[in-house]
Amino acid sequence: MTDKIYLMFQQSELDGAEMYRQLTDLADSDEEKEILHSLRADEGAHAGALSGITGRKDLRPAQAMAKPVLAIGRNLGKTAMYLAMGLGEHATYYLYQPLAAKRPQLKRIARDERRHGEILLAMAKKTAAEGTWKRLIPLDAAK
Ligand SMILES: [Fe+2]
Ligand SMILES: [Fe+2]
Repeated sequence: MTDKIYLMFQQSELDGAEMYRQLTDLADSDEEKEILHSLRADEGAHAGALSGITGRKDLRPAQAMAKPVLAIGRNLGKTAMYLAMGLGEHATYYLYQPLAAKRPQLKRIARDERRHGEILLAMAKKTAAEGTWKRLIPLDAAK
């Protein structure tokens, strides 16, 4: 049962990295691209750490996160998308917290997720302030 939780987290870290990979290709500026790229690297490292716990190396990234997040970006625009992502990252922080009490190596991951949440909420604010809040992700972008 315990292992299943770590396996679930390992898969979501891979799915998260895949989501950031696709979003990096859609960035409107170098700054945005750099931020998304570094978040992708973090999620990849998290997946690696989880793999150290589960012993599984055979998991592959799926579209579970990229699909709904890109759909928000396509339908509601970037501010809504970054807001949803920021809240999701904060939620992940709270999900990791109880596990981090048992496995200290997860503390750092939990802190990263909180930082990701802050970065993404700041991006939501920035796009809103710039007036690019409803810039839509193109339909034919990323897969
Ligand atoms: Fe992560
Ligand atoms: Fe994250």
